[in-house]
Amino acid sequence: MDIKNKTIGVAFTGSFCTYKKAFLELERLKACNCNVYTIFSERSASINSRFGNADDFIKKAEEITGNKPILTIEDAEPIGPKAYLDALAIIPCTGNTAAKLCNGITDSPVLMAAKAHIRNELPLIIAICTNDGLGANMKNIGMLLNMKNIYFVPFGQDDHIKKPKSLVAHTELLIPTIESALSGKQIQPVVISPFKK
Ligand SMILES: Cc1cc2nc3c(=O)[nH]c(=O)nc-3n(C[C@H](O)[C@H](O)[C@H](O)COP(=O)(O)O)c2cc1C
Repeated sequence: MDIKNKTIGVAFTGSFCTYKKAFLELERLKACNCNVYTIFSERSASINSRFGNADDFIKKAEEITGNKPILTIEDAEPIGPKAYLDALAIIPCTGNTAAKLCNGITDSPVLMAAKAHIRNELPLIIAICTNDGLGANMKNIGMLLNMKNIYFVPFGQDDHIKKPKSLVAHTELLIPTIESALSGKQIQPVVISPFKK
């Protein structure tokens, strides 16, 4: 299903090294005439790192989308009753957020948005980026892959020598993944490895 003119939620969690690529996808969604709402986890809205300052990311998200970013659980909650998102993408999705999501924990704005959105049986897209993807989080990724209305941006090992348990989504496939999810299908292949260096 064409993404043009759809309303899409883009949720950021604390995989800061992925933000450059995630913001590129935000721009691509706007270029497709999507109405885009961003949501930030408390960590993503407060941690300054070598990848940039939290306030700058929040400002940039508002500049690109024209909508105020959602920064609190109470502001994310209306996504359920108002059902205003056609699809919600968590990009990047940390191991922390993936672990909580598959266990029904709702203690961040991103998790609240996901819970609220899923209750409407609408697609939730996950772009996993975590150093323990093939370790502690493997079982959680497996659970999420098996859940209704959850779709994955294809992912793979980004550096099997230095980070043998790391999994990273091919973020450039976000839009085709959402389009496929809007038609109820998981884009394939879901595992693409290795990354080109
Ligand atoms: C500089 C930096 C980079 C990080 N990168 C990642 C990452 O790529 N993947 C990940 O799962 N966690 C990463 N973390 C850890 C998360 O930010 C941390 O688990 C946090 O609690 C996530 O919270 P959230 O999922 O609510 O955003 C990173 C932390 C820092 C400070």
